[in-house]
Amino acid sequence: MSNKYVMANFKMNKTDAEVEEYLNTFLPLVENINAKIILGVPFTSLKTAVTKTQNSNVMIAAQNMNENEKGAYTGEVSADMLKNLGVDAVIVGHSERRSNYNETDELVNKKILRGLKSGLICIFCVGETMYERKNQMTEQVLVRQITEGLKSVYANELKNIIVAYEPVWAIGTGVTPMDVEIVETVKVIRNILTSMYDEEISKEVVVTYGGSINEINCKEIGKFEGLDGALIGGASLMPEKFAKIINAFKPKATRKKA
Ligand code: 13P
Repeated sequence: MSNKYVMANFKMNKTDAEVEEYLNTFLPLVENINAKIILGVPFTSLKTAVTKTQNSNVMIAAQNMNENEKGAYTGEVSADMLKNLGVDAVIVGHSERRSNYNETDELVNKKILRGLKSGLICIFCVGETMYERKNQMTEQVLVRQITEGLKSVYANELKNIIVAYEPVWAIGTGVTPMDVEIVETVKVIRNILTSMYDEEISKEVVVTYGGSINEINCKEIGKFEGLDGALIGGASLMPEKFAKIINAFKPKATRKKA
């Protein structure tokens, strides 16, 4: 099985009926693709998505969860509730939640610890703003987000962490970093993980890129060294487009010697 993860974040799009219709088209398109596929659907479609993807190569993620185990948190959803529903993963620390709902690194860390405890894969989003990039603060921001976000996470729990590098300025803008910038930033992320754990462990962590990936630029991005996959927003909303992107990330067939 490929180690490439190709993930969708539907954000606040699609009714339950629309998710069902999407899956009817999508699942046959990807059934033979050698990649790990995760769909981040709205809470309202988790049950439908989990049921329809049973016995398929597609895993289902929630886009958020509460950091507490349970209790008086009206309107919130816990990690155990997600796990009990058959959900595999949860997106944590997305920049839209950091900026629109004031999610801090400390809160992101609490969510990660809670998610891991419940057996969920945590898709841990990090990335700098345009202001931070222009002021050469990218590394400093990533050091803070990763060291705070993964505080008290043991090395043996990292197999359930997917680091999703999503520069805020590339999300939904149609602008992507230059190839070399993505490759270099992934190296920075692995160096941070090396200083927190060690080099061997750092190499094993799944690190992906997200931000304005489409069915054209995925051909280049899919080949980047050290990159283990992608997290896609807008272009994942159409099943045919998303299936094309997934294809760009699957491992290339090795040619047999004559
Ligand atoms: P876009 O692919 O629409 O830029 O969104 C990326 C994203 O935020 C995925 O989490």
